[in-house]
Amino acid sequence: MSLSRYQQQAKEVVDVYLQQAIDALPEHAPRLKQAMAYALLMGGKRMRPFLVFASGEMLGLERQELATCAAAIEAIHAYSLVHDDLPAMDDDALRRGKPTCHIQFDEATAILAGDALQSLAFELLCSGTLSTANQAKRVDLLRILSRAAGYSGMCGGQAMDIAATGQNIDQNQLELLHSKKTGALIEACIEMPLVLADNVDTAHQERLREYAKIIGLAFQVRDDILDVISDSDTLGKPQGSDQALDKSTYPALLGLSQAQTYLHSLHQQALQALRALPYNTQILESFTDFVIERKF
Ligand code: IPE
Ligand code: IPE
Ligand code: MG
Ligand code: MG
Ligand code: MG
Repeated sequence: MSLSRYQQQAKEVVDVYLQQAIDALPEHAPRLKQAMAYALLMGGKRMRPFLVFASGEMLGLERQELATCAAAIEAIHAYSLVHDDLPAMDDDALRRGKPTCHIQFDEATAILAGDALQSLAFELLCSGTLSTANQAKRVDLLRILSRAAGYSGMCGGQAMDIAATGQNIDQNQLELLHSKKTGALIEACIEMPLVLADNVDTAHQERLREYAKIIGLAFQVRDDILDVISDSDTLGKPQGSDQALDKSTYPALLGLSQAQTYLHSLHQQALQALRALPYNTQILESFTDFVIERKF
């Protein structure tokens, strides 16, 4: 199947799942519910769900239980974007081609929408479909998502991002920052399927984890580069935001050309990790190319 067809299918499955989750919420706080729907359902490439489906199906898992993981991860991602855009953080006004959540609604509503999307993620993972054999693994899935979202992952990385703003940090520190703020959630997209599949050889598990780590870092390196070379219409978010805030990014640290060279080396490393696997990695290879070459 082609990448775009697979991508479209992954998006359809997760969009239906998330729409149903929002529709099921009662109406006692309609403005909050609208803000949650706005942040969760109005666009987004759905790259993380894609990675859950692509890696999970490669390992022989059923799409229905992968959808549970994909929807929970995407709800965490949507919350992270709402809070990332807040005036106290990146203070951005455009996201996915539309006003950011706090501009469209108000700051208090956006903070609560982020909070409630985070809770929704865990609720979905607590109650979503898993095969009978995999019911006992629900706590492991919850642990993976909690760690990826919290201090050890995205929140910790966002705090490092804030601390590094306007500062000179070295490449090792920047790699750690990126691996946490963006990499951790992307790694969870492969870690969760790995927990559900119990027939994967230890050495192959390690290769897949290595792949996840590389692609998670590469995702943010590409994001940093796009902030420099693209435009706001294409990105659907403000181009130049990192430079305006004096963020620590790969182009800021290495210069644009060296950052691109580094991204190219991550591309090769990621493909190399996939080549060592005894599975049909065609979709993941296309995903890798897409992450590295994407225009938005
Ligand atoms: C943007 O993520 C934030 C980063 C972690 C770089 P995406 O590029 O996946 O954003 P959407 O979901 O497609 O809008
Ligand atoms: C965001 O990094 C990472 C998150 C955890 C949301 P950025 O601040 O670079 O993401 P964009 O460019 O605003 O999407
Ligand atoms: Mg940010
Ligand atoms: Mg930002
Ligand atoms: Mg960015």
